[in-house]
Amino acid sequence: MVKLSEMGSFTLKALERVLLRASGSRDAAMNYRDRIVLITGGNSGIGRAFVDRFVEAGARVFTCGRNARTLGELRAAHPGIDAWRCDIACAREVDALRDHIANECGRLDMLVNNAGVMTQVNFRDDGVDDATIAHEIETNLTAPILLTRRFLPLLREGREPLILMVTSGYALLPARRAPVYSATKAGLRAFTRALRYQLDGCGIRVVETLPPFVDTPLTANMPGRKMSPAAVVDATLRAIERGRDEVFVGQVRYLPWLMRLAPGLATHLVANS
Ligand SMILES: NC(=O)c1ccc[n+]([C@@H]2O[C@H](COP(=O)([O-])OP(=O)(O)OC[C@H]3O[C@@H](n4cnc5c(N)ncnc54)[C@H](OP(=O)(O)O)[C@@H]3O)[C@@H](O)[C@H]2O)c1
Repeated sequence: MVKLSEMGSFTLKALERVLLRASGSRDAAMNYRDRIVLITGGNSGIGRAFVDRFVEAGARVFTCGRNARTLGELRAAHPGIDAWRCDIACAREVDALRDHIANECGRLDMLVNNAGVMTQVNFRDDGVDDATIAHEIETNLTAPILLTRRFLPLLREGREPLILMVTSGYALLPARRAPVYSATKAGLRAFTRALRYQLDGCGIRVVETLPPFVDTPLTANMPGRKMSPAAVVDATLRAIERGRDEVFVGQVRYLPWLMRLAPGLATHLVANS
């Protein structure tokens, strides 16, 4: 028979679980203490929100970007972190960052492939140039794939290692205004899924987060309702805690349903978003 005192402790534990679930991000954040995390593009937007959250949670944070000013601001805000000037498209610079983390920590627990760019190219204009297109493909698709390969040995040494790919709702359906961007995100989504199959059973978890329209410098010149970067981080970490490997954030969560129920409408809405 269950004693009253046991029932009390059961109720308290259940209540604690409900409260933890309600607080969501805190629940997730607590688990990142002493974790070694690398976030690419942590000096702006969504990456910066990841940095803030992991620092708050007591993780050892490494990040990289190219902009000296925003990297400096980041270091000033978080003196304990390693903010490196590193172009993810440059193999030599990525190797230097990997060697630094290997020397400092000997392992990596979490890799957040967040850095990315978006250009609004119109192929009906003569102004579209090869260099802009190649740069977008290199930054958004080639670089995170190569970077992931380079960090796999360190992740194998990690504690509950996890690779997080930041793709986009445009990975599901393309937007008229960003054809190259949409293609890179769809490509990165395909890579992420295939990598998940390959690493299944190796102990390295592979997660993808697909944010909606987010209020960052990347979307500064685009009007519309935008989610905050912190809310994207909250939703992503909460879903990771719940064991999800694909995180459809904000309005993106309706998209897979809409694609099934009304594919024409879904295509139209995203194309013109
Ligand atoms: N904002 C949105 O609506 C939205 C929606 C869905 C998905 N996303 C994705 O979320 C990610 C972050 O975007 P965001 O909105 O936060 O944009 P953001 O504010 O412009 O930040 C992009 C970050 O990527 C870094 N970066 C770009 N190219 C790099 C390179 N070659 N090497 C190293 N770092 C590089 C930038 O740093 P430097 O400039 O210093 O290099 C910056 O820190 C991207 O992958 C984006 O596609 C954004």
